[in-house]
Amino acid sequence: MSYSKILIIFLVAFFVLGIVAIKKRIAPVGFVCVQGQNCANAVATTAPTSNALRSGEEIYVNACAICHSIGLAGAPKFADASTWGARPDKGIAALTMSVEYGLNGMPPKGMCMDCSEDELSSAVQHMLDSL
Ligand code: HEC
Repeated sequence: MSYSKILIIFLVAFFVLGIVAIKKRIAPVGFVCVQGQNCANAVATTAPTSNALRSGEEIYVNACAICHSIGLAGAPKFADASTWGARPDKGIAALTMSVEYGLNGMPPKGMCMDCSEDELSSAVQHMLDSL
C-alpha cells in the first residue's frame, strides 16, 4: 500500500471521528421527552426529580450530613438527642418549614436546591428516626 493511500485512510478516519465528536458536543443538554415516545437515551439525563422521590436517607447523606453529622454552626446532630432539645416537639411539618425557608445557620432547603418538600420532609423524618 502506498503512503498516500494510508494517509487518505487516516484522514477519512479522523474526519469521521471528528464529526461524531462534534455531534456529541452540540447535542442538546436536555430536551423534552414526551411520554410514549421512544427516547430511552434521554431518560437517564432528564428524569424529573419529582417522579423519582429520593429516600430521606439519600437526601440526608448528600445534603444535610455535612452540617448535621458534626453539629456545624450549632446544627442539631444526627442520632444525638441532647443536641435537639425540644425541637422534635415542633412536629415534622414545622421542622420541614424550617428547612424549606432556612433557619439562622441553616440555608434555605438545607442546601438541597432540587429537593421537593416531600423529600425534605423525609430527610427530616430520617433525622428524627435517629434520635
Ligand atoms: C450549612 C449547614 C446545614 C445544612 C447543609 C443543613 N442544616 Fe439543618 N440546621 C443547621 C443549623 C445551624 C441548624 C440550627 C438552626 C438554629 O436553630 O439556629 C439546623 C436546624 C435544622 C433542623 C431543626 C429546625 C428547627 O425548627 O428547630 C432541622 C429539622 C434540620 N436542620 C434539617 C435539615 C435537613 C433535612 C437538611 C438537608 C436537606 C439540613 N438540615 C441541612 C445547619 C444546616
